[in-house]
Amino acid sequence: MQIVHSLNDLRSALRPFNQPAFVPTMGNLHAGHLALMAQAQPLGDVRVASIFVNRLQFGLGEDFESYPRTLAGDCQALEANGCDIVFAPTEAELYPQAQTYSVQPPKELAAILEGHFRPGFFTGVATVVTKLLNCVFSGAKDGGFAIFGEKDFQQLLVIRHMVAQMALPIQVVPGAIVRDANGLALSSRNGYLSDSQRTHAASLQATLQHMAQQVKSSSSLGDIPNIEQQAMNTMRSNGWSPDYMAVCNRHNLLSPAAGDHELIVVGAAKLGDTRLIDNLQFNRQ
Ligand code: PAF
Repeated sequence: MQIVHSLNDLRSALRPFNQPAFVPTMGNLHAGHLALMAQAQPLGDVRVASIFVNRLQFGLGEDFESYPRTLAGDCQALEANGCDIVFAPTEAELYPQAQTYSVQPPKELAAILEGHFRPGFFTGVATVVTKLLNCVFSGAKDGGFAIFGEKDFQQLLVIRHMVAQMALPIQVVPGAIVRDANGLALSSRNGYLSDSQRTHAASLQATLQHMAQQVKSSSSLGDIPNIEQQAMNTMRSNGWSPDYMAVCNRHNLLSPAAGDHELIVVGAAKLGDTRLIDNLQFNRQ
């Protein structure tokens, strides 16, 4: 496996290949990232991962400075999981000047849910992902694949629509959420939790499951606001500070309309100082 830090070295390393399969990350890897790498294995002709903590997607007061940087361990894990090239640029390499051009996803998708509570987050994500895709795929004669986890479901939708609308020659591949034995979705931020918080954190997924069950057994979509409100109350009484617990159409993240069957429940909440997100896809007949 090659580890490269500059765009020139990345392009040289990629020159013999035509169709990369790419897993972008911010490092501090866990089994969820490695499952994305495993999904990349049969795709394309070279497996690439990036490790870059992207300042543009962190808001004021968020954990950009303290976000764990674990490059050596991450590279070992990637090598053991079939990665061929790791691109780990410095900030000066990826943002040699202040990044004054940005990619602005539409408000309808990017200013709701995560975007409402983290203003600018999806502009930061879309900007860096565009840049990383240009770095990895600019010489790819046969396009390629980019794999994004479903835990960040709204991010996956933002990127999928961006790739389609900008006619990028890439197939976006979703990766299923990986959970621990209690049901807690794996996240780099789980490392901030104490042991007892980690056990307790599984109640986020349990509450989402309960919401999905209630929606499935309810006869009217009109019950959804109550189901969401009850879930917010349950979370609060379980010691969380929830930002949202919402039932949405899975394709646009809007409130479900009559005839919508493919739904998702999404939730974001803080346990102590740690903010976690999770979701659950389900169908309503
Ligand atoms: O999901 C992440 O880890 C990040 O948002 C991404 C896609 C690597 C962009 O920085």
